[in-house]
Amino acid sequence: MLNRSMPFKTVLVAALLLAASGIAGAADSLTASVSSPDGRNRLTVSIDEHGVPRYTVTRGEETVIAPSRLGLRFAAQPELGEGFRIADVAHASRDERWEQPWGERRMVRDHHQALRVRFENGSGVHFDLQVRAFDDGIGFRYEVPEQEGYGDLVIVDELTEFALERQGTAWWIPGRRYNRYEYVYHTTPVDEVVMAHTPMTVRTPAGTHVSLHEAALVDYAGYVLDHRREGVFQTNLTPWSDGARVKTGTPFHTPWRTIQLADNAAGLLDSTMILNLNEPNRLGDVSWVEPGKYVGIWWAMHINVRTWGSGPIHGATTEETMRYMDFAAEHGFDGVLVEGWNIGWDGDWYHNGDVFSFTEAYPDFDLEAVTAYGAERGVRLIGHHETSGNVTNYARQMEAAFDLYESVGVTQVKTGYVADAGQLKRVDENGLAHYEWHDGQFAGGEYLRSVTEAAERRISINTHEPVKDTGLRRTYPNWISREGARGQEFNAWGSPPNPPEHTAILPFTRMLAGPMDFTPGIFDLMPNGADSPNRVKTTLAKQLALYVTLYSPIQMAADLPENYAARPEAFQFIVDVPTDWERSVGVDGAVGDFVVVARQERGGADWYLGALTDENARTVDVPLDFLEAGRDYTAQVYADGEDADWDANPYAIEISERTVTAGDRLALRLAPGGGTAIRFVAAPE
Ligand code: NOJ
Ligand code: CA
Repeated sequence: MLNRSMPFKTVLVAALLLAASGIAGAADSLTASVSSPDGRNRLTVSIDEHGVPRYTVTRGEETVIAPSRLGLRFAAQPELGEGFRIADVAHASRDERWEQPWGERRMVRDHHQALRVRFENGSGVHFDLQVRAFDDGIGFRYEVPEQEGYGDLVIVDELTEFALERQGTAWWIPGRRYNRYEYVYHTTPVDEVVMAHTPMTVRTPAGTHVSLHEAALVDYAGYVLDHRREGVFQTNLTPWSDGARVKTGTPFHTPWRTIQLADNAAGLLDSTMILNLNEPNRLGDVSWVEPGKYVGIWWAMHINVRTWGSGPIHGATTEETMRYMDFAAEHGFDGVLVEGWNIGWDGDWYHNGDVFSFTEAYPDFDLEAVTAYGAERGVRLIGHHETSGNVTNYARQMEAAFDLYESVGVTQVKTGYVADAGQLKRVDENGLAHYEWHDGQFAGGEYLRSVTEAAERRISINTHEPVKDTGLRRTYPNWISREGARGQEFNAWGSPPNPPEHTAILPFTRMLAGPMDFTPGIFDLMPNGADSPNRVKTTLAKQLALYVTLYSPIQMAADLPENYAARPEAFQFIVDVPTDWERSVGVDGAVGDFVVVARQERGGADWYLGALTDENARTVDVPLDFLEAGRDYTAQVYADGEDADWDANPYAIEISERTVTAGDRLALRLAPGGGTAIRFVAAPE
């Protein structure tokens, strides 16, 4: 059996039971309910005439999730799904504040009401549903205690459903397709969703914004939303190559199934529920995990001016790394990412997973020399491990690979799992190859292993081609960022580039899961030439706005140093913008149309604002009431120029300054495909 991490569960149940003493015991009732602290969100559990457990979610008068099935099905044991009654009910509540070591906000309030329902059948088989109702949504999970006949288990299906209003609007990317999470979003009626990854966001006909996802995905399979009957989605667990969905045994619990709820799009941006449903930091002192900004030998390969493999234009040379380190030191960046430094990139690297070495450098890359050079300038090398999907080849070398990086002072490593979905190579103890999904139980365990191995060496991990984020950064704060969506790189190769609306959808979908290493800041917007269909479909100012709207504690200045040198005024915003925040505010937005986010620097009084639009020009009226009342701020505004347009005139930018206070409003004029970035410099108190 695989490792399972159980201890925290026991603690939680104990806490719930303790808090609920005296309230519990509504045995044999047909329903049980719990409401959020503000009373608006409510989950009700019921049992139908066949003893099938169901749940309903309402927000105020609106039914958001109509009665939906609950249950689990096993290969060899009777399912937990029919013939059950509610045998016990316990209530509890919590109101605590906890501090993030880094994040989009320093303090997080965990304020919820909890419900635990015990289901039991005539043979004494039992399981629990744990529910937590927050003002920003509802989470629930199954907990199956140790019991006779349910020792080793193979889960073949999870029966959880989400019955949605069919006429709602959904923003979604397809699940179980080859390109993992790297798709352009569909905007369709709920009715037309096929099989979707989470987070999937829905606006109900009444205007409520709902996001379906999961929290704390550990030692279990990720799920996709499978549209089984009209409006009814089932948690379709990603299978192992042998067809099993999850290999486990009692006691076990599932990840939290989450339903984030808000009155409008901007409301979703302030949700903290996914983090609150994860376990606290398990790594102890994590002061060594450092947010920051980086540059790298990266975009040059994507636009074909350098190569990952060896040869005349090899990117990862000692000399080129030192050039980037000089640039980083000059402008205050902490790190330089270098891809293509290690043996294995020659030929078709997409298919080189079997031959990658994670400890041997190409002869023109001197690891000791570059790290020593960086150390003298206060710049670190950021490591890179591309597996090309051969997870076993990586696993075999992992300890030596992290030891090597640790020995030269590398504190952050970007990992990569480029392979079609369902094609991660797992070689078993008999040497046989099996091909697994990026979001199955096996892969989830491997990603987490890279994170815990790295943590032992005080190294942080930025995973590309990851499993979706489910908030595990709270438990493992060195899992500092990840990809898991269509990033900037698609603008280099086309196929096609990201449409202007893409970054007006991400904050309300993918970003609800956690930070993304999108790699903003491309200044040469047509790197393949003006005639190429491959181009960045934004204005210059919108590239700046992305640093605020797409949260990540590590942000790349992704373009080549020479392209920044050509536009020093605009580059100043990238130099100034922090990546760690005291607080964040979702100011305004409409999914797929526009978004406005404001954030206060952690450890400082300055605020930053990012606003961006889709392909349509618009003017957004922004009240500055997030600023500290009674204080003057100098607003340094990086706005689209008069005739800016992502297509016809992307570089037109207007940089201006004015004094503002919390009582002011700004009318931000956003060009087609445009944006505005603002730094509010606080006057001394
Ligand atoms: C895909 C990653 O997303 C990208 O950032 C990286 O450059 C390539 N893989 C090579 O590892
Ligand atoms: Ca990628």
